[in-house]
Amino acid sequence: MGICYDSDKQIFSLTTRDTLYQMQLGPVGHLLHLYYGPKTDCCFDYLQLDRDCGFSPNPYDHQEGRGWSLDTKAQEYSSQHAGDYRVCSLSLETDAGLSGTDLRYVNYKVFNHKYEISGMPSAFGKAQSLSITLADAATGVEVELLYGVFEKENVITRAVRVKNAGTSVVTIEKAASACLDLPFGGWQLLHFHGRHTMERAMERRSLMNGIQTVSSTRGASSHQHNPFVILCQPETTEDFGECYGMMLVYSGNHRTDIELDQSGSVRAVMGIHDDGFRWTLNPGEVFETPEVLMTFTDKGLTSLSQTYHKFIQHHICRSRFALERRPVLLNSWEAAYMDISEGKLLSIAKGAKDLGVELFVIDDGWFGQRDDDFRSLGDWFPNKKKFPGGLTPTLQKIRDLGLKVGLWVEPEMVNEDSGLYRAHPDWALTVPGRNPTMSRSQLVLDMSRADVVDWLYETLSTLLRENPIDYIKWDMNRNLADVYSRALPAARQGEVSHRFVLGYYDLMERLTREFPDVLFEGCAGGGGRFDAGVLAYSPQIWCSDNTDPIARLTIQHGTSFGYPIACMGSHVSASPNHQTGRSTPLHTRSTVAMAGTFGYELDPAALTEEEKETVRAQIARFHELQDLIREGDYYRLSDGSAWELVSEDKKEALLSFVLVDPTSNPKPNHIRLKGLVPEARYRVAWADFGGKASLPHEESRTFTGTALMRGGYTLPILFGDYPAVQILFKQI
Ligand code: GLA
Repeated sequence: MGICYDSDKQIFSLTTRDTLYQMQLGPVGHLLHLYYGPKTDCCFDYLQLDRDCGFSPNPYDHQEGRGWSLDTKAQEYSSQHAGDYRVCSLSLETDAGLSGTDLRYVNYKVFNHKYEISGMPSAFGKAQSLSITLADAATGVEVELLYGVFEKENVITRAVRVKNAGTSVVTIEKAASACLDLPFGGWQLLHFHGRHTMERAMERRSLMNGIQTVSSTRGASSHQHNPFVILCQPETTEDFGECYGMMLVYSGNHRTDIELDQSGSVRAVMGIHDDGFRWTLNPGEVFETPEVLMTFTDKGLTSLSQTYHKFIQHHICRSRFALERRPVLLNSWEAAYMDISEGKLLSIAKGAKDLGVELFVIDDGWFGQRDDDFRSLGDWFPNKKKFPGGLTPTLQKIRDLGLKVGLWVEPEMVNEDSGLYRAHPDWALTVPGRNPTMSRSQLVLDMSRADVVDWLYETLSTLLRENPIDYIKWDMNRNLADVYSRALPAARQGEVSHRFVLGYYDLMERLTREFPDVLFEGCAGGGGRFDAGVLAYSPQIWCSDNTDPIARLTIQHGTSFGYPIACMGSHVSASPNHQTGRSTPLHTRSTVAMAGTFGYELDPAALTEEEKETVRAQIARFHELQDLIREGDYYRLSDGSAWELVSEDKKEALLSFVLVDPTSNPKPNHIRLKGLVPEARYRVAWADFGGKASLPHEESRTFTGTALMRGGYTLPILFGDYPAVQILFKQI
């Protein structure tokens, strides 16, 4: 039983395969957090100690004891202005001027299905749900805490419904999705920060006293801070130790505050960012927060990552493609940028077909007057100069070559120099009386407006209906500023950022439902919106605009802590690389791109005959490996330069390694594998060094799983600039 309520002790226990989550009603109805950790049948109510802590006040009904304070108790959803001075989960004000909440228990319900959140993606599948309602008497606000228990997956989801059950109008200033109080232990924070073309680098640090924040106010989950954090013990490694994960299923402004308080307890509060957020709730109305995916393991960071990988693929990604073989694509961007025409595209497409590519994607530059990035976003009809006969015949000609066809769009944006902007200047987010902030010379469409979303739906669905399109690359190349909607009254301007995200989800929902056979790839200047909300609709996201394989090692390594590699758009591009100028071997580029969706981003005509042969072999190799890459268990073997995929039956293991710092008189590169069956025997089925080294052992040699995991495997000396190796081990 995943959810239990002990009515004597008033304890709720949520149990997954390996974890227990426990909470208890306090004597006057506060919902207290007891425990989240390894599964056990202990009852942790003894941990709720009363402690008279100076300047930590007492609720009126606890004034006798003095030791009972919301300021020192672990709680499920922290209140505000009622004696807890730590990070609050909910902040609101009524039109009568009342603020703060003192939340007390009302009732609970258990469901044998997973709850849903309206207008936003959330986890689906076999699960139980618990709803606990708390209420604040003064403001009349009810808070329904939702818990989804995915037993086998070791995941507990959280979300919150805030209902105005009173008679005053309520303005919500903050409504977090989850609060996790960890009463004991010195925790460290892992978070994933970066910038455009260098996303999601992992940083690990001990908590400072006070509050540390991981957040975005950019209107997108952002290149800068991913809505995903891990709290772990100082001694936690990839293979051992305790760690908690919290991941927000949301694509807009987000905020996670982690507070180390005066008592040494840690509180993590995650949800929509409160900067500029104000949501009006009339009597009877309900506001729903996005969902948080929580997990705990005492088996280290790899185990935590693998939990998220499987969960996202099976319970977040709705697209059928998430669990299917996906076509090897060639994208026109780095091959031709906007300098495209039917003739040029057909010639690249023919070259791609000749290499074994299966899907040809026409990137930016096909529409309106789009010869540069100053104009035409919003004019989603073909550029007549580039496609005199229209787009459909060109797409058909590409289809006739035996290729699937993809198209780039950036629907949420508009250029001032566009027919759309000239017709509807009020559809852009701008502040009346102020010149708008420009970014890449474009403005953001007001997706909080239903008429804008409807227009986009009509435009895009017509494009998809009238053209043979198998794939859409959905881009978002700037962040929000001047967040003001001309369609909303003054009191509702604080809703625009969140309504923008709801508009984006509504559009994705309608399009993916109507076109389930179109593969959508998310993108925002590369990985500027790489989150579980986008993954619900697009089973893959272009991981970064940086295609340099050496830089990608860091980006993909960081991304892998929370997200499956099968979701990471990753391509082989030209050398020298267009972003960094670095030259790398073709084999290294493909080794790194195979830790992702795998595709190409170059002009085949620029390849030598020998390189073309190599590319054909790479594509054949990807076909051999793609089930393993998509479904296998992923292991980080180093800080980015070595990784391994092991098939679910543990019969195959693919080891990949890139040498990033070749030295003279080099030390041997020795790698210990993971995840194998100790007593089984493995042999090297093949090893690919890009033609630059040979195997140290005969192919007939076999190793036990124990030998490869304990003793390890020594690679031959690798020489030259950034050599890479892929080795497939097979059980015999
Ligand atoms: C973004 C994307 C690129 C490319 C360009 C086109 O930067 O990440 O891959 O599509 O836009 O303008």
